[in-house]
Amino acid sequence: MAAKAGVLLVLAALISCHALTGNAQQIGGTCHLSDIKVSQEKTGKVVQGQPEYRVTFENLCECPQDYVDVRCNRLPSVEPIDSKQIKVMDELCMLATTLFKGSNISITYAWKTPQDFTVVSATSRCGEGMVRRV
Ligand SMILES: *[C@@H]1O[C@H](CO)[C@@H](O)[C@H](O)[C@H]1NC(C)=O
Repeated sequence: MAAKAGVLLVLAALISCHALTGNAQQIGGTCHLSDIKVSQEKTGKVVQGQPEYRVTFENLCECPQDYVDVRCNRLPSVEPIDSKQIKVMDELCMLATTLFKGSNISITYAWKTPQDFTVVSATSRCGEGMVRRV
């Protein structure tokens, strides 16, 4: 009985969200992938003959964002990448910790050309629950 009531409550919450926003994309928060800003600059350091770059990820949305995946092309680098900040998986990299508004995550790498870090998905965590965006 209790479990059934719980399911009904969740359904009711989802339906009321739908009714409020009229848009399935908006359930559970108002974050957009474009709220995650990626900026990149040369640090001025040279490592093994390659310029070092600093990439900064910034969350402009009030809701914390987890599992932020960015395209990173295996993140080539002649210096080690800080795996406490970002996990290099394959074509994708994932930020290793939650990205909160007002607290950036930065990494550095050194390579002959700057890499592209397009955000491809993220999960925002607001009051109502988690929402995966791709
Ligand atoms: C986050 O990064 C942006 C862009 O580099 C910068 O303008 C801003 O001041 C940074 N915020 C913090 C809290 O470091």
